[in-house]
Amino acid sequence: MSADVRSFFGRPIIIGGGIAGLMTALQLAPEPVLLLSRTLLGADNSSTWAQGGLAASFGEDDDPALHLADTLAAGDGLCDTDVASRILQAAPKAIEGLAGFGVPFDRTSKGSLCLGLEAAHSRRRIVHAHGDGTGREIMRALIAAVRSTPSIVVVEGVEARRLAVRENAIRGVWASCSIGPVFFGSRQVVLATGGIGGLFLDTTNPSGSCGQGLALAARAGAVFADLEFIQFHPTALDGPERPMALVSEAVRGEGAALIDETGQAFLQSVPGAELAPRDVLARAVWNHLANGHRVFLDARQRPGPEFARHFPTIASACRGAGINPARDLIPIRPAQHYHMGGVAVDGSGRTSVKGLWACGEVASTGLHGANRLASNSLTEAVVCARWVAESVAGTPARRTRPAVADVYPSPAPIPVRVFLSRALGIVRDGEGLKAAARALLPLAESKDAASDAAAVGLMIAVAALLRQESRGAHYRTDFPHHATVARRSEITLEAALAAARELGHSPSLEGAK
Ligand code: SIN
Repeated sequence: MSADVRSFFGRPIIIGGGIAGLMTALQLAPEPVLLLSRTLLGADNSSTWAQGGLAASFGEDDDPALHLADTLAAGDGLCDTDVASRILQAAPKAIEGLAGFGVPFDRTSKGSLCLGLEAAHSRRRIVHAHGDGTGREIMRALIAAVRSTPSIVVVEGVEARRLAVRENAIRGVWASCSIGPVFFGSRQVVLATGGIGGLFLDTTNPSGSCGQGLALAARAGAVFADLEFIQFHPTALDGPERPMALVSEAVRGEGAALIDETGQAFLQSVPGAELAPRDVLARAVWNHLANGHRVFLDARQRPGPEFARHFPTIASACRGAGINPARDLIPIRPAQHYHMGGVAVDGSGRTSVKGLWACGEVASTGLHGANRLASNSLTEAVVCARWVAESVAGTPARRTRPAVADVYPSPAPIPVRVFLSRALGIVRDGEGLKAAARALLPLAESKDAASDAAAVGLMIAVAALLRQESRGAHYRTDFPHHATVARRSEITLEAALAAARELGHSPSLEGAK
């Protein structure tokens, strides 16, 4: 960071250099904007790793209403229907816009988009680029577009550590970089920081994705929605590597089957079998593993010899583990993959803090409900980036004063991973959630390097404890059924801390709701 940061004062700031952040910056052009990225653009972020594509109703047998029906069914009663309908209607045009930035989507010989099938979609509607290299290809195109847009200043190697807030309004961002702490004054900040995979031992996401945006918003007093809903992907490559390589749902879409070590197709009693919604399938695989079995994906017949051509990234990960999917079974197990909950936002991405927007996985728009439909998240990021940009551009930017930079420790989420992996996995119960909340409370209140991750984990644990039902990705053995009324949840850090302190005194926090 060599430039004088005061020259950027007053510009809107985007925190995060994944697809949501880059698209928001591009949509804001020619408005001047500052984009802060923890790493070099494209490095260590889950957008680059995305295999699955973008879902949209392009097919002649498809329309946004069918896409909406699948989304609502997967979301298990918790989607915001209006928001979902708006996003899915806007999806085809937004994806065409991406192609306009140079994303080389896979096409038929006649030039129309190739459409793949994924679980719980009733139509072929997933677009990919270079097979399973979709995220990498989108990032390549967007990074090139951002680097050649003069109104976007990208500052790499800068980690946002706190939001400056006065009277519930944003005043700027404290960040740390190689030369020490810096303060960027601005009244308009967009969080596009991704998810929470790094808070789990078994994840398909980069370990550096540990909920930094949630922590920034939490310390700023923002309201969160549906934090308890965490998606586990049923088929991560089972082996010693961490993070785990994803074996895309598209492989099952092309006909691969799940079997166990005896060769038994153990999903026979699961409606939809290999193409059941992700929460249902992840639980079925989890239960089979818990009963002492091993689980494999059998792609030997289909896609068979075509595997490496269709799925070069997965084939390469398998090769690294000594597996040839055209000939060998692929050992799999579920792993943390996506966070449905996040900072609560309205239809323009505005949070409850004035001047703070959120876009992408860090935000909770209401599209995903209790269980995200596959490939709806990149679509959401691309569609919502435009609405966030319009909202930011339509909000007058007022000058803000420089402040002394403050120092905050760099986050180190390691102890938090153990608590979250144990209590907030595929199968949960009240005792485990209480134990996690009690263990996370002192860390969240401390000045320890793990305090931000602990604060995020604590909010999730309390939200999960308060949801006394099983729905979508949130399954509790002590409350195995749906509640009669489906209700989205809301929480703040202050409320989670108070609830966890209360747990210290009374064992019956759940009864209080
Ligand atoms: C996958 O390819 O299975 C993942 C796609 C997604 O998470 O939406």
